[in-house]
Amino acid sequence: MTPPARRLEGKVALITGAARGIGECCAKLFAEHGAKVVVADVEDQLGQAVCESIGSSNSIYVHCDISNEDDVKNAIDTAVATYGKLDIMFNNAGVADVSKPRIMDIEKKDVERVLGINVIGTFLCMKHAARVMVPQKSGSIISTSSLTSHLGGMATHAYSCSKHAIVGLTRNLAVELGQFGIRVNCVSPFGIATSMTADFIGLEREVFENVINSVANLKGVTHKPDDVAYAALYLASDEAKYVSGQNMLVDGGLSYANDSFKMFKYPEEA
Ligand SMILES: NC(=O)c1ccc[n+]([C@@H]2O[C@H](COP(=O)([O-])OP(=O)(O)OC[C@H]3O[C@@H](n4cnc5c(N)ncnc54)[C@H](O)[C@@H]3O)[C@@H](O)[C@H]2O)c1
Repeated sequence: MTPPARRLEGKVALITGAARGIGECCAKLFAEHGAKVVVADVEDQLGQAVCESIGSSNSIYVHCDISNEDDVKNAIDTAVATYGKLDIMFNNAGVADVSKPRIMDIEKKDVERVLGINVIGTFLCMKHAARVMVPQKSGSIISTSSLTSHLGGMATHAYSCSKHAIVGLTRNLAVELGQFGIRVNCVSPFGIATSMTADFIGLEREVFENVINSVANLKGVTHKPDDVAYAALYLASDEAKYVSGQNMLVDGGLSYANDSFKMFKYPEEA
């Protein structure tokens, strides 16, 4: 099957956390592929600027704090009222935490904040997407998890726990909604220089990318937001019509690599 040039023609997508970073890149790519895009975020000016660059005939901005159920309900109802349906719900918004890494030093309130947005917020987006997709008997729900859902020791306990929970929600919901023809998947990036990583780790983008490149399995390429956007484009499109319940790791094979095993080391590179 040759994919059409515009792979989301006629589809309506709502993307949370689309005012910048990975979500912004996805919003622009989805629109290039023919989707009407609802940009949802708490950063109103940035979100409106994303819509301006996409074009007002193909996108609208809606203020939505994903941890607030009224906001989530309103965002989804706005998508349906404006464009008549919801084909793609991309739960991408998320936060990292800057709490101390060691468990004995972590404050309960810091864990609650991260879980409140990343887990409860994603749950609310799934719930209200299902509300409109079940009667349609179609839809693709995608969430942004993280490689921390697969490998330990890469992020704080709260963040890692929240991204594991997104995989759990994804698998459980894929089972519930399969009977309605609705697919549910998530994407799990490795480390991409965005505002989140700059704020979280406090490294300049170029420095962060150098760190990631030095530990990456796949060499000669730097991990960028469009790696996630293209993975989400596939999961959103009809080309993924039999793919559900998956956690798609976008990690250049890092999750399978263990530096302790030297079997494939080329002597000239040693
Ligand atoms: N950058 C990475 O290395 C990386 C790796 C793995 C997973 N992720 C995940 O990718 C997603 C996007 O992250 P990013 O790197 O683009 O970060 P980012 O900070 O650039 O973008 C996150 C967006 O989410 C929005 N947001 C935050 N809280 C929100 C809320 N309560 N309601 C609505 N919107 C909210 C922010 O305003 C921002 O626009 C997140 O879920 C993050 O956990 C990022």
